[in-house]
Amino acid sequence: MVNSEKFRGGMDLIIRGGKIRLSGDIRVPGDKSISHRGIILGALANGTTTIQNILMAEDTRKTINCFKDMGVRMKMDGNDLQIEGIDLHGLEEPEGKLYCGNSGTTMRLLSGVMVGQKFNTILIGDDSLNSRPMDRIIRPLAMMGGAIRGLDNRYPPLYIDPVKDIHSIYYKLPVASAQVKSSILLAGLYGKGDVRIEEGKVTRDHTERMLKYFGANIYLEDGIICMKSGNSLEGKDVQVPGDISSAAYFMVAGMLIEDSHIIIRDVGINPTRTGIIHVLNRMGGDIKISNIRVKNLEPIGDVEVRYSTLTGVEIGGDTVATMIDEIPIIAVAAAFSKGKTVIRDVEELRYKECDRIRAIYNGLNGMGADIKELPDGLIIEGRKTLEPATLNSYGDHRIAMALSIAALKAKGESTITGHEVVEISYPDFYKTLWKVSQ
Ligand code: S3P
Repeated sequence: MVNSEKFRGGMDLIIRGGKIRLSGDIRVPGDKSISHRGIILGALANGTTTIQNILMAEDTRKTINCFKDMGVRMKMDGNDLQIEGIDLHGLEEPEGKLYCGNSGTTMRLLSGVMVGQKFNTILIGDDSLNSRPMDRIIRPLAMMGGAIRGLDNRYPPLYIDPVKDIHSIYYKLPVASAQVKSSILLAGLYGKGDVRIEEGKVTRDHTERMLKYFGANIYLEDGIICMKSGNSLEGKDVQVPGDISSAAYFMVAGMLIEDSHIIIRDVGINPTRTGIIHVLNRMGGDIKISNIRVKNLEPIGDVEVRYSTLTGVEIGGDTVATMIDEIPIIAVAAAFSKGKTVIRDVEELRYKECDRIRAIYNGLNGMGADIKELPDGLIIEGRKTLEPATLNSYGDHRIAMALSIAALKAKGESTITGHEVVEISYPDFYKTLWKVSQ
């Protein structure tokens, strides 16, 4: 199946699809969003924070390194990260630029922290991140009094200068983005006034939950996210649930491949992230959640999936933010479903690590899928099977993983070009895929 000996130039991976059965009882790595937030709040808290089951991958390493560059002591202890918090006002001026790599979360959330510091910083990314829009955070942070500039006021590098005061803000999010919301809340920790944020579409609320867990005065009032000024954070033990975005590849693989049965333990099932589960349910997928409990204000459960006959559905509107990172793998599920799937209102995907609408269109189209690209989505007419093909990851971890599952279902050998990009969020992805296909 996944033939790891057939690497070409260390970049291509051959996947032999066809009839196999997937089965296993697995765990996926810690949630990426929650891991980033744990590192940030742990660094800014008083006292020690321990983050159990933290995601150790390229993206989260960038956040860790940025804080180490500013004098925060962190070390791994088995699977846990120990952070010696240095208080909201303890960060030291870094010697060089803060390098965020491929990680939009690192750059956008850190910008919120940096506008409140008494020193200058420059944040840069890799080529992909340097071409992603930052005006969405520059605007609200500047409204709060932050001195932040970018190239053409839109792109990294971001130049941040110290200011005397960060002030209150009432902000209606023009784009559904948890990164923007989080950036504003983090800047608000340094503000003299309150923060109030109105969301059109509900986005992941991990920052709000973790700020509350660390002792900040944050609450919802008539649907508006409110945070009072004058907070200080206390170090905590955080247990990171498995990443539902990583689990999604195994949920869909288990449903698409005949005779399969997969259990994924300890997955984060925060309702702002469970759009994938609702969609797979609507498609007729056999999916069960059990053993539900709450750890550090985040719900966790075990997810069990079985081979299912899926039917096309319509996806769009207010709920798309709850499954935004799962749209590529949902498109793969749709390509093997009965009937038509229409995915709308996901234009945001064009501004991710790559243009994910175009990348998934190119991949599935290359495999002979009946697929149409829309400005804000895709229309897919499902088929029983697709042709093997050479599939480009476009340097995007979620495209590599989604197309790997499509390749598994095709009959014959497909090549995933640039598959190693899974290091960004799920270094053991192929190892686990290999394990469940034994
Ligand atoms: C994230 C928010 C989402 C998501 C990204 C992680 C976060 O981005 O796509 O993978 O951790 O806040 P947007 O805020 O741009 O929607």
